[in-house]
Amino acid sequence: MLKLLIKRGTLVDPSQDLEGVYDLLVEGNRVKKIDREIFEPEAEIIDAEGLVVAPGFVDLHVHFRDPGQTYKEDIETGSRCAVAGGYTTVVCMPNTDPPIDSPWVVEYVILKARHVNLCNVLPAGAVTKGRKGKELTDMYSLKDAGCVAFTDDGSPVMDSEIMRRALEISSQIGVPVFDHCEDDRIATGSLSSGEVATLLGYSSRPPEAEDVLNARDCILAYHTGGHVHIQHLTTALGVEIVRYFKEKGAKVTCEVNPHHLVLSEREVLRYGSLARVNPPLRSGEDLKALRSALADGTIDCVATDHAPHAEFEKDLLGVSMPGMIGLQTALPIMLSLVEEGVITLRKMVELMSTNPARIIGLDRGTLKEGAVADIVVFDPKKEWVLDEETNLSKSKNTPLWGGRLRGKVIYTIKDGRVVHKDN
Ligand code: NCD
Ligand code: ZN
Repeated sequence: MLKLLIKRGTLVDPSQDLEGVYDLLVEGNRVKKIDREIFEPEAEIIDAEGLVVAPGFVDLHVHFRDPGQTYKEDIETGSRCAVAGGYTTVVCMPNTDPPIDSPWVVEYVILKARHVNLCNVLPAGAVTKGRKGKELTDMYSLKDAGCVAFTDDGSPVMDSEIMRRALEISSQIGVPVFDHCEDDRIATGSLSSGEVATLLGYSSRPPEAEDVLNARDCILAYHTGGHVHIQHLTTALGVEIVRYFKEKGAKVTCEVNPHHLVLSEREVLRYGSLARVNPPLRSGEDLKALRSALADGTIDCVATDHAPHAEFEKDLLGVSMPGMIGLQTALPIMLSLVEEGVITLRKMVELMSTNPARIIGLDRGTLKEGAVADIVVFDPKKEWVLDEETNLSKSKNTPLWGGRLRGKVIYTIKDGRVVHKDN
């Protein structure tokens, strides 16, 4: 059996309250042993001195555009970005063409991901047929086919009765419903409602568009006992809504995206359409609230919302497609928050591995002995630039393009096998 010995890394694993310098032995596809000093003459050695060793990251929100929009990304290029970013599991969104709303599309995604064989790619199925918001999909057979979540992401589930029924089924089958919360009658424009939208004369997507659906979903989760997961939370009030319903015992979890933690709506003035994303970048006050909610546990996890688009789709601010790529830049962004003292390194791992795995009931996100060996080894200090050479996506839509980043993945190990190595 293949043996891999990761030596002298700083191990951070919140699932077993572990933080310190350890050796870690992988045997086959499992974590065999963690100890201060391990000798194993047969093992291949990875020298991790000065590096951080953590459970492979889990991303609950990526767009791999496959099937149907593979000029932006596909399951292979998406998987390469994922493992380069330290992710060993990703949940891919169903706003593909055709959408992931029937078992055969689920099977296509699973088979192709297995063929690519880099990253665990788990499909989210649509809540409604065609993501049109009118009629529930067959959530039972989608679950059987392999869906780990349901969402109409890209669009909200506007009909409250459909959402209520989806949550009822969710509580029966134990699969969470994710929601893109933006009321589409209020969110009609491209930018948040602040001074920047006014300055540029754009119609807006104000925070209340998000808050009303966030609150509605929490209320429905409270009454049905279903598990709702609020996607890409961005507002200060939204944090309070989630906190309130968690305290009341509703099964509510939520994610934030790295870009919403470090970029405010003012970035639109600098980056134009590259800073256009749904929900939009918000005010400094919102950023502040999100950051403190990371530390106090109201926010469960960080998800990238990796949303690749071609250059021609990002031409003009007013009409550009929303979204930015994010799999390779998530770690540097989160490390900048560690550097600033907003969160600890341990909290970061909790937000990127432990908690997202727990939300979808995945038996990963841990380095406990006997667990599947999904591991990220990163250098928190290494500087690099996302450019033509380092970018692994088919798309380049991010305001961070060409900028200096700090923190780089050196090895990604999935099922005990090295699937990415920094060169
Ligand atoms: C996403 C996309 O491009 O598919 N865009 C975005 O701005 N976030 C859709 C989504 O996640 O809502
Ligand atoms: Zn979304």
